[in-house]
Amino acid sequence: MKSKGKVFILDDDGLILSMLSKVLRNEGYNVLTESDTDDIVNKVRDWQPDVMLLDIRLPKRNGIDILRDIKGEGLSTEVVMLTADDTAETAVKAMKLGAVDYLTKPFNTDEVKIVISNAIEKENLKQEVAYLRKVYSETYERAFIGKSDAIKDLMRNMEKLAEARVSTILITGESGTGKEVVARNIHHLMHGPAASGCPPFIWINCAAMPETILESELFGYDKGAFTDAKHDKKGLFEQSKGGSILLDEIGDMKFELQSKLLRVLEERTIRRIGGDKDIPIDVTVLATTNKNLSDAVGNGEFRKDLFFRLSTFYMHILPLRERPVDIPILARYFLEHFAAKYNKKNIIDISPEAEKMLVSYNWPGNVRELKNLVERFVVLENIDAILPVHLPHWLTGPAKTADGPSAGKFILPDSGISIDDFEKDIMLQALAKTDNNKAQAAKLLNMTYDAFRSHLKKYGIA
Ligand SMILES: Nc1ncnc2c1ncn2[C@@H]1O[C@H](COP(=O)(O)OP(=O)(O)OP(=O)(O)O)[C@@H](O)[C@H]1O
Ligand SMILES: [Mg+2]
Repeated sequence: MKSKGKVFILDDDGLILSMLSKVLRNEGYNVLTESDTDDIVNKVRDWQPDVMLLDIRLPKRNGIDILRDIKGEGLSTEVVMLTADDTAETAVKAMKLGAVDYLTKPFNTDEVKIVISNAIEKENLKQEVAYLRKVYSETYERAFIGKSDAIKDLMRNMEKLAEARVSTILITGESGTGKEVVARNIHHLMHGPAASGCPPFIWINCAAMPETILESELFGYDKGAFTDAKHDKKGLFEQSKGGSILLDEIGDMKFELQSKLLRVLEERTIRRIGGDKDIPIDVTVLATTNKNLSDAVGNGEFRKDLFFRLSTFYMHILPLRERPVDIPILARYFLEHFAAKYNKKNIIDISPEAEKMLVSYNWPGNVRELKNLVERFVVLENIDAILPVHLPHWLTGPAKTADGPSAGKFILPDSGISIDDFEKDIMLQALAKTDNNKAQAAKLLNMTYDAFRSHLKKYGIA
């Protein structure tokens, strides 16, 4: 069975350790127990548990102090306090210090299961949010390659908009066409190379997190605005002083939040959740979507006024198949790029026949799909030129068009198939095509992010 998460238990009572670890192991958790408080923070840091069960009364050190250390070190482990009845007051204090919950001795096993499963869920969500808005931003390639008229036009417009320092830009295009690269280039054109002193570029995905979390990420909150608001927190709009904020997949932002965003764009001020001050902000808002926003306005999913406000300055990136001259240029660029990255000198070129096939393929995943394909070649193949035989079969078949007669039609073999295996396989392919980006993979399959995640769980895909 795949582990549901890692739980670390610290208690000086051996009976409690064995009882709790038995319950939790039976539930599918990976459990580590400890009865000694020495060096405890390092142990937690090394093992990186999702949740720690922490006794309050310990012989050498008090659990509250240990909690304070763990939170002070910025470890992301969620802490659940274990208390005897008479320390319930202390448990409340622990919650104020950042514990997620507490369990009172003697334990009720059902309660233990629920508390742990909630804590794990919270931890996963937190990590996802952190991942979704940070990791991504540091390592992004900014190269923007292409010689088609469409791309040349786009580059000229990028320069003009950057020079004019416009405050809002909408960037549209199918998945993988390069909306994020364009956004990053605009930021770069406005502010020069990333260096200390250069204002930040902040990326946030509007589709991949619950509305309430997105709202508090964007707007921040004042202490006491809700139960978890233990102190004031600046939102991303406030943090991006003078820089840019990329609202990725704006088409999926919920209606109510859309009104708040419109207010920000019009007044150039924000109000924290639970706050009563209007705080001026200075930020370029770059919004991207692969949805057709005017359709979304038509069927009531997107606010018309926000759509008009966003589309004053608007850039559209054509799908790769509609600018075929860029295909060989990009393919050769990626070949060189990955050869340098992986220090490989094997593949030197693409044969004319293979090039023809690349050009006539319809690239549903656009530039991202081409880039991933070339990367696989460079890493896996020991050849000096890419020939048609090296290309995957879906690429060498008859040229497909998005609206051709057999587009999207799957032919059931006479022997039948397992629909579960098929679904799992398709989901893995979607993840592979999108560099494991769940939000984008869900989109490729026309599923909601939540549905996609629950299917991942169903098939045990990590
Ligand atoms: N013109 C280009 N030149 C070089 N690399 C490009 C170009 N267009 C896209 N890429 C690369 O293709 C990948 C996908 O681009 P990007 O993430 O910007 O797509 P996107 O339009 O934001 O897609 P999605 O809607 O799925 O988020 C990135 O690795 C990017 O560097
Ligand atoms: Mg993107």
